Amino acid sequence: MADPKKLFIKTYGCQMNVYDSERMAESLGGSGYIEVSGPEEADMILLNTCHIREKAAEKVYSELGRLKEYKIANPNVKIGVAGCVAQAEGEEIMRRQPMVDLVVGPQSYHRLPELEAKAGNGVKALDTDFPEEDKFEMLKARPKAKRAPAAFLTVQEGCDKFCAFCVVPYTRGAESSRPVDRILREAEDLVKRGVREITLLGQNVNAYHGIASDADGGGTWGLARLIRRLSEVEGLERIRFTTSHPNDMEDDLIAAHGDCEKLMPYLHLPVQSGSDRILKAMNRKHTAEEYLKVLERIRAARPDIALSGDFIVGFPGETDQDFEDTMNLVREVGYASAYSFKYSARPGTPAAEKGDKMVDAAVASERLQRLQALITSQQRAFQESMVGREVSVLFERVGRVAGQMVGKSEYLHAVYITGDVQIGEIHRVRIVESATNSLGGVLVA
Ligand code: 5AD
Ligand code: SF4
Repeated sequence: MADPKKLFIKTYGCQMNVYDSERMAESLGGSGYIEVSGPEEADMILLNTCHIREKAAEKVYSELGRLKEYKIANPNVKIGVAGCVAQAEGEEIMRRQPMVDLVVGPQSYHRLPELEAKAGNGVKALDTDFPEEDKFEMLKARPKAKRAPAAFLTVQEGCDKFCAFCVVPYTRGAESSRPVDRILREAEDLVKRGVREITLLGQNVNAYHGIASDADGGGTWGLARLIRRLSEVEGLERIRFTTSHPNDMEDDLIAAHGDCEKLMPYLHLPVQSGSDRILKAMNRKHTAEEYLKVLERIRAARPDIALSGDFIVGFPGETDQDFEDTMNLVREVGYASAYSFKYSARPGTPAAEKGDKMVDAAVASERLQRLQALITSQQRAFQESMVGREVSVLFERVGRVAGQMVGKSEYLHAVYITGDVQIGEIHRVRIVESATNSLGGVLVA
């Protein structure tokens, strides 16, 4: 048998890219590739890129520049660009970096084996279509090897919301949902391989509306119904989902947070700004008050829910008062964690095309610092509030110190203990200390 070829994938960006990279590696497995952890001995180097913020394309070009040495050392090495920069830049990538052999968009990576074969014959291969066929159906069955206890599962892709700053509707395309039975089958397979926790992924995951087969009762299911059905899968202990839009937090999904035991008490629900004026300019289609009302209802269903969000500062036209509105909203909510970014104009998006007045860069940086300081203090307070409490921990790996095991609590905190537990087990743990990015605990007998 021929030696396996070696594949190195470098993944940027969101969790969906992590999932896509896994599936790409699996699909190239059929072409004789095994995955390796560095570019040094690789026969193929794939960059799975992200286009969501700042200078994404430039970063990819400079990374490609650095990869040149591998191509010079071994001209047979294939270099590919996948993901959202591939989608946005297309042929331009090969024009600017002629050593690139293959460019593949996020909707066509099921065609990777063909593209790889083409590249192997010295033909440049490009595919940035939004094909009719379902890539998930065309992908090879996932391998049976045992795997880590927490996994991602993409159930929905694309977005029809068209927030004025965002490239997702252009790079990932229109909203589409995978059929219920395919998701169930994939979840059951993951569980057979040792998975105990699944995070359902979608750019707008709570807009999920998948077709159910007659065997499952037919009709179109929303995310809540899918979660309820998944929670019947024996051996699957925890379910999470990300990322959501406030306008799609339907009644049943809110209710599921209260009555579906396997659904973890953690919700990432981005709002982006606390100013109604800016929310309108962002085309978010909700006000700050409406967002807070949604959170109120979720907290009524699940009082201990840990909330997370995304914020953009320095959106064109943002005044000091608009920014203070954002600070006030954050104070009112009290986040368990949150992500904040400085606005960056993304080519092709309405906000970038309108050419509205950009906020001065120094002002935007100062706002970002203030917002991040506030979020960090909330994060710390939430983490410290865990000391003395009992949580349940899914153990995922051995720790750095001998005898130490590390896992995740239901609130997504990293928790370490010293004790006799196995990877994949869930145990009650009493938290005794709070470190910078993790919690220390003891097993509850
Ligand atoms: N500039 C800054 N942040 C952005 N995000 C999306 N687009 C932009 C942009 N043009 C942020 C949003 C989104 C997160 C994934 O990235 O906060 O929720
Ligand atoms: Fe982008 Fe999210 Fe808005 Fe969709 S809802 S356009 S993915 S920020």
